[in-house]
Amino acid sequence: MAEEPVRLAFIGCGGMSRTHVRGWGALHAKGANFKVVGAADAVESLAAGHAATVAGWQGQTPAVYTDWRRMVEECKPTAVDVCTPHHLHHEVACGCMEAGVDVIVEKPLAVTLRAARRMLAAAGKTSAILAVAEQVRRWPGPRALAWAAGGGPLGTPLLCSIQHVGGARRDPAIQTVPQPMPWRLERVSAGGGVVVDIGVHMADLLLRCFGPIRRVTASCRCFADLTYGDGRRPSVEDAAFIQLEFDSGMSGTWTHAGRLAGEGVQNNTYYGTGGSVVAPGFYPRVPRFTSWDGAGVMEGPQFIAAYLAALTAPERERLFPSWVAADPLQPKGGDLGIQLELADFLDAVRTRRRPEVGGAEGLAAQAVSAAILESAELGGQPVLLDDVVSGRVSRYQDPIDAALGLA
Ligand SMILES: NC(=O)c1ccc[n+]([C@@H]2O[C@H](COP(=O)([O-])OP(=O)(O)OC[C@H]3O[C@@H](n4cnc5c(N)ncnc54)[C@H](O)[C@@H]3O)[C@@H](O)[C@H]2O)c1
Repeated sequence: MAEEPVRLAFIGCGGMSRTHVRGWGALHAKGANFKVVGAADAVESLAAGHAATVAGWQGQTPAVYTDWRRMVEECKPTAVDVCTPHHLHHEVACGCMEAGVDVIVEKPLAVTLRAARRMLAAAGKTSAILAVAEQVRRWPGPRALAWAAGGGPLGTPLLCSIQHVGGARRDPAIQTVPQPMPWRLERVSAGGGVVVDIGVHMADLLLRCFGPIRRVTASCRCFADLTYGDGRRPSVEDAAFIQLEFDSGMSGTWTHAGRLAGEGVQNNTYYGTGGSVVAPGFYPRVPRFTSWDGAGVMEGPQFIAAYLAALTAPERERLFPSWVAADPLQPKGGDLGIQLELADFLDAVRTRRRPEVGGAEGLAAQAVSAAILESAELGGQPVLLDDVVSGRVSRYQDPIDAALGLA
């Protein structure tokens, strides 16, 4: 007998959720067995926009709600895709899991580590699937970096140095906060600025490639001198200067100052006993490998092809399922990482297995961001990850927890 389709619903239908809808649409076109039954957003027109888009490819129009709890009660989804502001992730995800619904939630897992721990506890109690939408590690370039660092040609990893500086094209005459999305600029709703927004992607990638981080030392600041027009200023950082110490002995630096104007300099560099992996851009999407003697250079596509060739057939099918990514170098249907994260969730829901990026992985990445913010809050003191994960160090997060009733 044919399997029932997974009954999927969207909660939070803003910018990133529209990208997810494109990803779900691509999977639908490739034969994935799910049906979108509802869309909920505090702004009804956004949920209605999702419903109209989905109707275009699935034939039936999902129901539209402004109250996600009502949608869960009435539409009875078996899985939800949550793309709300960060301070709602735990409330929505815990509410859904307690109603027996599986959850994929956008990064970061939660607004603070206390909120994250509640989500892991709810997943443990209910046996619901909890997945974090994390696309960066799934692109072929980052996968190739993980291969190179995990016994591949990079040898023993020694140093990573990541720079995201400038290129903001910001008119200095504009001094008011651009709308929409002011929630991103407030500590209580976002949990931090760029250290959370971009930082959890970097943290997840670094943990995946190089293993646990032991200690971070950081300072943060805000270069963009913006106000809301009434004298109030955003309460989160837009720049961070970070040193990382890995359990393995590897060292790292990450500099982010993406709100500076002028020429943008974005690159990722990774060094090991076997040579280097260097990639332009925010993330190592097209990494070039150079061997220790400089003689062996593999440009991005060649390096990625060498990685793909090194995979066993089952590994390749697990990481790049052929029905989603027949050719990972020429993906069809938009962002391959998004399609892969959604397909991984769908398979986890169907087979009741752990997703690749579940609550534990989401919490580990979020803890790196939290440790950076805690170190900066303590005036640049080194902070041990263990102390942040256990809750012994939480001065930055305490006011957020207090404001959200999590303390
Ligand atoms: N993976 C990525 O590359 C990436 C990129 C952008 C954003 N994100 C993540 O996606 C999430 C959403 O970010 P965004 O950029 O789409 O923000 P957004 O502001 O565009 O969307 C958030 C939506 O949530 C809705 N919302 C607010 N309160 C709600 C409630 N109580 N019930 C239902 N809906 C509610 C808002 O109306 C809005 O439409 C965040 O976790 C963010 O970090 C990830």
